[in-house]
Formats: sequence, C-alpha cells, structure tokens
Amino acid sequence: MDRIGRIAVVGSNMVDLVTYTDRMPAPGETLEAPSFEMGNGGKGANQAVAAAKLGAKLVMVSKVGSDIFGENTIRNLQGFGIDTRHVSVAQGMSSGVALIFVEPSGENAILIVKGANAALSPADVDAAEELLRGADLILMQLEVPLETVYHTVARAAEWGVRTILNPAPAARDLDVGQLASLGFLVPNETELAQLSGLPTGSDPEIEAAAQALIARGIGAVIVTLGARGVRLVTSEGMVAVPAVAVEAVDTTGAGDAFIGGFAHFLTASGDTLAALHQAARYAAHSVTGRGTQKSYATVAEFAEFCRVLDDR
Ligand code: RIB
Repeated sequence: MDRIGRIAVVGSNMVDLVTYTDRMPAPGETLEAPSFEMGNGGKGANQAVAAAKLGAKLVMVSKVGSDIFGENTIRNLQGFGIDTRHVSVAQGMSSGVALIFVEPSGENAILIVKGANAALSPADVDAAEELLRGADLILMQLEVPLETVYHTVARAAEWGVRTILNPAPAARDLDVGQLASLGFLVPNETELAQLSGLPTGSDPEIEAAAQALIARGIGAVIVTLGARGVRLVTSEGMVAVPAVAVEAVDTTGAGDAFIGGFAHFLTASGDTLAALHQAARYAAHSVTGRGTQKSYATVAEFAEFCRVLDDR
C-alpha cells in the first residue's frame, strides 16, 4: 500500500492576477480583455498545494508581505492542511504578485514581483530545521534568493533528505557547482540549455545536456517538454514519458502541478518512473481548468480523470 509522504517546500507564494485576453497587447496598445480572476499562486505554494490535495503531509517555509494579501495567503495554505509555522511576515514588504495574461489557446505570459519572497533567507531555513530534517523530500524553485536555495541543498545533504529543484524562473547566475548533492533537477528545455550551456533542440541533445549536469553530481534530470512529454535522464540513460493529450483551457501552473504531483507520487510509492507517469496525468488535468491551485485535482477528481483516460 502507498504511504503518506512528508514533503517540505522551501519556496515562494504569490497572488496571481489573471487576465483572460483574446490576444496579448502590443507595446503602447490599450486592449480590452473579457475577464479577470484573482487566485493564490507562486511556484512554491502551487507545488505544495498540488501535493497536499493529493494527500501528502506538507510543510512550507516561505515569506509573505505585511499587506492585505499576506494573511490571506497563510489562511489559504492552512485550508489545504499545510503546516505554516514557518511562513512568516516580512514587515514593510509587499507580498509576491504575478501579473498573468492567458490567451484562448491556454498559453500564458507572466510578470512577477517577488516582494517578500526575496527576503526568504538561509536563517529561515535553519529556523525550520526540525521540520525539514523530518521530511522525505524538500522541494525548491527559484522565486526566492539563490543563496537560500544553495543553503537548503547543502543542509538537506547533511540531513540525508532528498531534494528536488525546479530551476524556474530561469536564473542566469545559478551556480550548478552548488547543486552537486541535488537529487532531482526539473528544468524545461530552455532552462536545461542555460544551465548546461549546450543545445537542447532534439532528444539526443537533451540527453547530452542532462548528462553534463549529472556528471557534475546531480542525481537525475527530469526535463519537461510541454506537449512532447517528459524525459527522465539518469547516469543509465534516458526514458521518455509521453504527455497526456487534453483540450487546454489554461496552462498556467501546469508545471507546478506536475512537480507537486511527482513529489507526492514518488514519496508514496518510491517508484520514479511510475510517479512521472502519474504526474503527467495530474498536470494534464490541471490545464483543463482556469487558474493554478484551484485547477488542481483532489484525490477523488484525479481518480475520476484517470478513469475517463483509461476508458478512452
Ligand atoms: O508557475 C506558475 C506560477 O508562476 C504562477 O502561479 C505565478 O504566481 C508565478 O509564480
């Protein structure tokens, strides 16, 4: 029987201000859009919520602003049963905000203001040591300072806790040398090209680029390719996991659904490849609804989605 994983997220939270538009505005143009929605987002919080909705036990280490959004963000995380003892308020700072445009195809463009997320420090990670060292897995992204990510990777190695880093949004100054003890790196092809300095236009190029990072100490690289699926690269070679075809309404946060889902399925079953197939399904479900966290399936909704997929 699957076990309940204990997952920690050291990462961001944002308030998503989402405009659904018929097309992107051109520079200098004012355009009327049909609708707007506000939601809870941020790559860290999204990944935490996805895993929590699937039944994992979640702890989050994060910072909110001392504004109207901060308390609401904490309450939102608590509503999913996430332990927020280490989500603190950065006095005098705004909360993180993401301005998102979504086109009818479901494609999006995002502008983020990190706000309080930029104040998450190595000291915040140390303050949460007791909870973090008891986790099965620690998840990170790049909407918080790089020094905090490096510190978490190093401390997790001392504690013997597995780690996953989603290097998004891409950071040109990310030092791969600081990630030598990382368990899984989960980039898209653009982030992989930037981190490896190698082309990623074809499967053989993707494998070579990922192997270059594995040669520097990273345990495994999971490359997300949108509609082309996912590639798992280990020192033993590359395995393709196909995407699940669905009609996309809003692709925002699908990558986070994939990673949060993968973290849950991996800690529950211990089987990396099976967890990737399940996570691909979970991410596919998320693009069928609007928004990020609110589009993520609960256990019951995911079971129903899988039943329909298996019948088709
Ligand atoms: O990955 C999607 C997320 O990126 C959005 O929720 C937004 O907050 C930005 O952080």
